[in-house]
Amino acid sequence: MGRFFFSDCRLPFRLMNHKKAASRIQDLTALLNEHNYRYYILDNPTISDAEYDALLRELQDLETSQPDLIQPDSPSQRVGSPPLSRFEALTHSIPMLSLENAMSDEELINFDTRVRKALELDRIDYVVEPKLDGLGVELIYMDGVFIAGSTRGDGYTGENISTNLKTLKSLPLRLRQNARSIPPYLEVRGEVFMTHIDFEQLNRRQLVAEKPAFANPRNAAAGSLRQLDSRITASRNLQVNIYASGRIDDFRVASHMEFIQALRDWGFPVNDRFTLCHGIEDVIRFHNQLEADRESLSYDIDGTVTKVNDFAFQDQLGIRSRSPRWAIAGKFKARQAVTSILSIEASVGRTGAITPVANLDPVPIGGVTVARATLHNQDEIDRKDVRVGDFVVVQRAGDVIPEVVKVILENRPDNTRVYRIPDQCPVCDGHVVRLDGEAKHYCQNISCPAQIKGRIEHFVAKRCLDIDGFGSKLVDQLVDTGFLNSIADIYSLTADQLAGLDRMAEKSADNIMEAVAASKSAELWRLIHGLGIRNVGEHLSKVLAEKYGSLKSISETSAEELEGTNEVGPIVALGVVEFFKEEDNRKLITSLGSHGLDPQIDISSRWEGVLFGLSFVFSGKLEYFNRDSARELVESLGGATANSISKKIDYLVAGPGAGSKLEKAEKLRVKVLTEDEFRKMAGAE
Ligand code: IVH
Repeated sequence: MGRFFFSDCRLPFRLMNHKKAASRIQDLTALLNEHNYRYYILDNPTISDAEYDALLRELQDLETSQPDLIQPDSPSQRVGSPPLSRFEALTHSIPMLSLENAMSDEELINFDTRVRKALELDRIDYVVEPKLDGLGVELIYMDGVFIAGSTRGDGYTGENISTNLKTLKSLPLRLRQNARSIPPYLEVRGEVFMTHIDFEQLNRRQLVAEKPAFANPRNAAAGSLRQLDSRITASRNLQVNIYASGRIDDFRVASHMEFIQALRDWGFPVNDRFTLCHGIEDVIRFHNQLEADRESLSYDIDGTVTKVNDFAFQDQLGIRSRSPRWAIAGKFKARQAVTSILSIEASVGRTGAITPVANLDPVPIGGVTVARATLHNQDEIDRKDVRVGDFVVVQRAGDVIPEVVKVILENRPDNTRVYRIPDQCPVCDGHVVRLDGEAKHYCQNISCPAQIKGRIEHFVAKRCLDIDGFGSKLVDQLVDTGFLNSIADIYSLTADQLAGLDRMAEKSADNIMEAVAASKSAELWRLIHGLGIRNVGEHLSKVLAEKYGSLKSISETSAEELEGTNEVGPIVALGVVEFFKEEDNRKLITSLGSHGLDPQIDISSRWEGVLFGLSFVFSGKLEYFNRDSARELVESLGGATANSISKKIDYLVAGPGAGSKLEKAEKLRVKVLTEDEFRKMAGAE
């Protein structure tokens, strides 16, 4: 199918009659699905991304004007839709079984012996496939159209994640029409997973957004798929491979190999590393081959799955309570090795987090030479009692950085050395602090070269200084070329410097210069947030801005005073104080000020309402207010509200059923008001 196919019927849709629009929508839907198949399944696109986007936009415009004409397989659904409040349960028509594990060649041989004995045969054909390390899902199609999909759940009932699944680009929304007939009802099963590249990219984005990183691609895939907001799923580039059937009506093939062919004909993504093996020796050879190739794959696998090829034999073998007798998972060996620790160093991440890393006597694990392993943090070092010179077990887990699992204490040499994370940053000499309740130590200097890219990316981000066009690629280039050595350098960039960069048109250089200049009049909270003070997110930045009115005033406030601010706890207060203790941070703020970035809020002339400085918690049933209107009233009169009782709260306004908050207020001697008393106080009678 070429582009000429549906050539020139583009008309403004106002002028298009309903019938024409219907036919154009149908054509565009089919055309876009075809191009999607070529791109994601065949890996052989025939149009450019821009051409695809133009067709998609045309379809979306038509759909907006004629929502009744949206096709069930419309590619516009792949962008996700507004969040659900929860996932509905979906019961599998046939339970989703798990697999028995074989931990060694011997256990694979035992499996084959059992199978051959039950079937009374000398040799069996098996299909061996990679065991993908993701999440099992089921997809349901009626008359070739995707109608629902679910997680495995407990094997009997899963969660209906249809809207999320629709966002997966390689998942067919409609099965392909060709010589292969389409069953009226079809369930297939497969694995959703994330590639290493997408995993690393996602974790980088998480870091910039100050969100926790995912431990491995499997967790990242699970976290992305089980999102109530499918627009988040859509942004995560999840993959799916199909490898098994559920209930399928009016369909019969003789073997798993034939089933795989049917899946391909229908347009499903199938993992291409499956092999037909004649006998268990072949299976073991292929299993070992895949184990050796494991590192070269772009996604995680944790073993192989061996399936009896012939469906009649599968039926004959049947199932046990939770797993079929005709299949087995061959697990790969744990990727561990023993080596010794030559030294330990403090590695500084993009947020200033310090991770102790062991330099090892290099050792091969699973085909890769491992010379460094993470020790996570000081507590982990202490708990495992890891010392320089120790012999340790090192493990590669989930394809992230290898880690030190444990010390072989029996082999501890005499001259081991205890390690402590230093008080000064090994990169910039900035001071290193570990706040109460946190596992990690942090370098406090936000101009630290190890942090500079991450810090600048955060500073310019939408919810901070919002400098448009200043993306992570640009930050990379500007830091690498030496134009940016600190956040303040953003304000001495010149249009010439920008225009001289790769792929930077003059127009966009000018736009960036304008955006940089505009950011000088940003509100104070944006600057506070942009500095990336530990545990001070957007909301607390606003709280601090409102209360103190300038960076200078915040920097001169003690931890005790800060704690007196509603919503500011001891950890946040200490984080703020430690931040301003760092000399380089103070210099940075002075430097930003000299560039004209020193927003102020005049708090001296602020109108002080009757509730000024007072804090309230509301609990129980109120007659005149709901939570929102109560908060609005308090804030409009200069007071503040919180959700839980602490010593810092001045009043609890308690209605009937106030319960535990009332008890706590009494215990902490927080004054309790009735709703009427509160209304009197607020002058709202
Ligand atoms: S077949 C009855 N094939 O492994 C057998 N499963 O431990 C149905 N898995 O829940 C599964 N790759 O999520 C099969 N090529 C593959 C697989 C695979 C990964 C997962 C699947 C299943 C689990 C069983």
